Amino acid sequence: MVKREIIEKILENCDIVELINSYLPLKKVGQYYRTLCPFHHDTKPSFYVNPSQQLFHCFGCKESGNAIHFIMKYEKMEFLEAVKFLAERAGISLKEEREDKKNQGIYEVVEFACNFYHEQLFIYPQALNYLTEKRRLSLATIKEFQLGYAPPGNLLIKVLKKRGYPEELLIESGVAYKKEGEIQEWFFNRIIFPIFNRRGKVIGFGGRVFEEEIEPKYLNSPETLIFKKGENLYGFYQTSNFLTKNKPILVEGYFDLLSLFDKGIKNLAAPLGTGFTIEQAKLLKKYCEEVIILFDGDNAGREATKRVIEIALKASLNPLIALLPDGYDPDKYVNEKGAEELKKIINTPYDLIDFHLKISTPQTISEKRNVLKQLLETINFTCDSALKELYLNKISETFNISKKQVLRAIEKDYFIFKDIEFSTLLRDLEFTILNVLINYPKYIVFIEEYNKQIFSEEIKEAMEIIKEFKDKEKITVGLIFEAVKNPTLKKRLSLISFLPQELIKGIKEEDFKELLNKYLYNYYLKKCTSGEIDENTLGKIYEIKRKLIKGEK
Ligand code: UTP
Ligand code: MN
Repeated sequence: MVKREIIEKILENCDIVELINSYLPLKKVGQYYRTLCPFHHDTKPSFYVNPSQQLFHCFGCKESGNAIHFIMKYEKMEFLEAVKFLAERAGISLKEEREDKKNQGIYEVVEFACNFYHEQLFIYPQALNYLTEKRRLSLATIKEFQLGYAPPGNLLIKVLKKRGYPEELLIESGVAYKKEGEIQEWFFNRIIFPIFNRRGKVIGFGGRVFEEEIEPKYLNSPETLIFKKGENLYGFYQTSNFLTKNKPILVEGYFDLLSLFDKGIKNLAAPLGTGFTIEQAKLLKKYCEEVIILFDGDNAGREATKRVIEIALKASLNPLIALLPDGYDPDKYVNEKGAEELKKIINTPYDLIDFHLKISTPQTISEKRNVLKQLLETINFTCDSALKELYLNKISETFNISKKQVLRAIEKDYFIFKDIEFSTLLRDLEFTILNVLINYPKYIVFIEEYNKQIFSEEIKEAMEIIKEFKDKEKITVGLIFEAVKNPTLKKRLSLISFLPQELIKGIKEEDFKELLNKYLYNYYLKKCTSGEIDENTLGKIYEIKRKLIKGEK
């Protein structure tokens, strides 16, 4: 965790105009700067940078945020990475030294282990032969992925200890564990697959037996401070360059990825031994809109494919499915039939509807009904309404049912994404209140007198955040953007920053209180019109109305 003060300091020391201008040529228009949006196909400049609020906003694709978000999006970095990147740029230390030191130690041990395992490969010919002969990998691929061999005999522990690394650190790094009080190596007589993070640092390992009868066949490093299985993909460091031009092909196993890569198909990704996670899907989504799932041609592979489809849809990643003949996994297929044959399968994938029909071939009415049900459940995982619509249309055509009937079947869930909004007037007033609060954070104290329930969730969240900044003379939207979780609020905030600020310049306490009363008045009026009327509410309306007319604040 980076402290809030540090994030503030980074943002205050980084000018968003200068930052973005170092990537894209900005042109000044009025009080803003403008350029072609890097995040969508933009033909006339709709990407604006607001220097006074330290914010960018694209009026085309609606992407917006502060300097940190720009870097996350542009450099495809995670939040922490982007913070570190900007801190370094501004020469600010992150003051996480204690934790950093520990992590630093883990990185060192794991990297040392990686080099060690890789060298052992050339000392144990049976291990190298396994990779080159049995698995038919070239030396180039073995080197690129730093494949290795963990010999028996706890040699790695001895070498690491000799170099002065304490036992606890070896255990925290996941290369060793305690067994009956004795320190033991985690990997023992296994082929080693180093797992890299996106910056190319080794964070953990996968290990496969090469004598078939030993269990488990695959073993991963335990999770450590730097190794989180669900958040990383195998081979991603080596393959990510190939994912922007070609859709990623998601395979199940380490060897599937390695064999395809070796035979020239490089737009690949694989989970890390566990099931595919939403974080992994989101990682892919940064590179592309679609993923081709190429799992094993058996029942387990097809069932796993169904799960991946749902996860991909949740991350708004459109899943396509390439189907292998029974009994093949990608590794076996490419080695037996060659890359060209495999490409034919990859290049003609099924969409999720055809996939379901293909694997279950429904004949009877009730079989069809079942597939339909599964499909409707599946597409309901997407929050991309356009995609959902396209699938619904195809379902309606394929099953020859009117779309109305299809919709009826899932009505309850289908409308869940429709926004139920406050009335426009209340929204506008709230908007203005928020705008004032950003420019005069100290006015937040006046809100304290009001019952928070009268405000929408977004505004309540914004108020909580602004409260933390109330001692500042002025805050920028860019500064508080970090703390905002609600996406609608984010959008509203970034729009606010492009409103003409003259309207609220020099607004006095009294004006603000009047604004609040206006809001309150309309809030109760709205309650009346929606039938929620009681004496209490009416009383309040009259009271506020009186105040407003008399100019009492
Ligand atoms: P598979 O059993 O399909 O293995 O597991 P594979 O990749 O085809 O391996 P080979 O060809 O026999 O060498 C697919 C993936 O599931 C994970 C591993 O990541 C493996 O690559 N797995 C499998 C485990 O984590 N543990 C296991 O015991 C087995
Ligand atoms: Mn295999």
